[in-house]
Amino acid sequence: MFQSPRGTQDILPEDTVVWRYLERRAEATACRFGYGEIRTPTFEETGLFLRGVGEATDIVEKEIYRFEDKGGTDLALRPEGTASIVRAYLQHGLANQPQPVRLYALITAYRYDRPQAGRFREFRQFDVEAIGDDDPLCDAEVISILWRYLEELGLRGLSVLLNSIGDPVCRPEYIRALVAYYEPHEGELCADCRRRLRTNPLRLLDCKVPSCQPFAEAAPKTVDALCEPCASHFADLRTYLDAAGVPYVLAPRLVRGLDYYTRTVFEVVPPRIGAQSTIGGGGRYDGLAEVLGGKHTPAVGFAAGLDRILLNLRAQGCPLPGAEVPDVFFAPLGVEAKRAALPLADAARARGLSVVIGTGDRSMRARMRQAGASGARLAVILGDDELRERRAAVKDLAGGAQQAVAFADLAAYLAETVDRAREGSGEAAAPAGLAPDREGEAAS
Ligand code: HAM
Repeated sequence: MFQSPRGTQDILPEDTVVWRYLERRAEATACRFGYGEIRTPTFEETGLFLRGVGEATDIVEKEIYRFEDKGGTDLALRPEGTASIVRAYLQHGLANQPQPVRLYALITAYRYDRPQAGRFREFRQFDVEAIGDDDPLCDAEVISILWRYLEELGLRGLSVLLNSIGDPVCRPEYIRALVAYYEPHEGELCADCRRRLRTNPLRLLDCKVPSCQPFAEAAPKTVDALCEPCASHFADLRTYLDAAGVPYVLAPRLVRGLDYYTRTVFEVVPPRIGAQSTIGGGGRYDGLAEVLGGKHTPAVGFAAGLDRILLNLRAQGCPLPGAEVPDVFFAPLGVEAKRAALPLADAARARGLSVVIGTGDRSMRARMRQAGASGARLAVILGDDELRERRAAVKDLAGGAQQAVAFADLAAYLAETVDRAREGSGEAAAPAGLAPDREGEAAS
């Protein structure tokens, strides 16, 4: 039998409820800050990621899903969302709109990595980008969006790690100092770090290999090497974060795994820090649009890993919506009763109820077991007597009470009963995504 590919997940109905909740919360938060949704293709020309993300990054060197299509075009599944969004910004002339252009996206991304808890080959991101403005207020804004989103989901004990890694004016000098610091220790570094010393020295700072830690800890700090404009940008950002009430911790070794960053970089980590713990990360990427062939376009953004957010929500016991169950289960006995059930069920659906009709040939006992297993609140029993009298027997599956209701009044009766039960159980106060949504769907 076939299995889903390694590092991918099937999301079954009891979990899609939770996923939709995460996605709707993300949309709602982004909308509250004035961000509009953008959707870009799942695959792009490979060159976009080679240039955008950087050839010397793990993502491009080791993890990219790259293929040639039948027309001979070199394509890749997106390993992240930012390069595509900036490509779309340039392609559609969004620079002509008021700046910054505020965009968000809910995407799947693909990285060929060793799967483990919280690390998948296909994963989901909530991506937020403010493109076309270098104001540190934009940096504070996107960090606030991430922070509010996670806070409102109920996650506790998170930290925002913050650093500035300078720009093309001050960074070259810093890199020279960093390489000069590391070179005498080259023989003591791990194989990856020896390579990084030549290809991507900034990444030396966040090597996870224990024997490299002491060198990284004592290395020169990026914040100490900032030029005046970068230093004042960082200082302003910090005052804005303070004013917005977003707590953060300075993290002098934070550099991120993508090449496009300038100035601000940040990550959000949960309380228990492990290799795969980062929930979300981002930063400023003022040079990316130019690298992709456009005009100089300052920009800042982040992506949050929804798979990891969900793992953390579950680990912390945060409230999540339960499995969706139908409101009403129709229990027909025989073909005649099934025929009668069809229009009656539709009339109830037209009032916004979720209704299933029991299938197969079953005894009334088996039918009622079916009704119980469905999780529905009410069962509508349609046997020979009910058909003759054109009155259904409506049973409250939790309380057991039963009521005869004329077919003509059935839909209204079911809707009222379900509404009353919802109010009584305080369902409206439960995590959004169930009852309010169903109403929305029925109205449209
Ligand atoms: P990133 O740090 O590569 O940044 O990914 C962002 C988040 O995606 C991570 O913090 C993590 O939660 C999640 N993530 C990454 N890889 C995996 C994986 N293999 N399995 C599960 N979750 C994963 C970016 O992607 C940048 N585009 C962020 C950005 C937007 N910077 C500026 N704008």
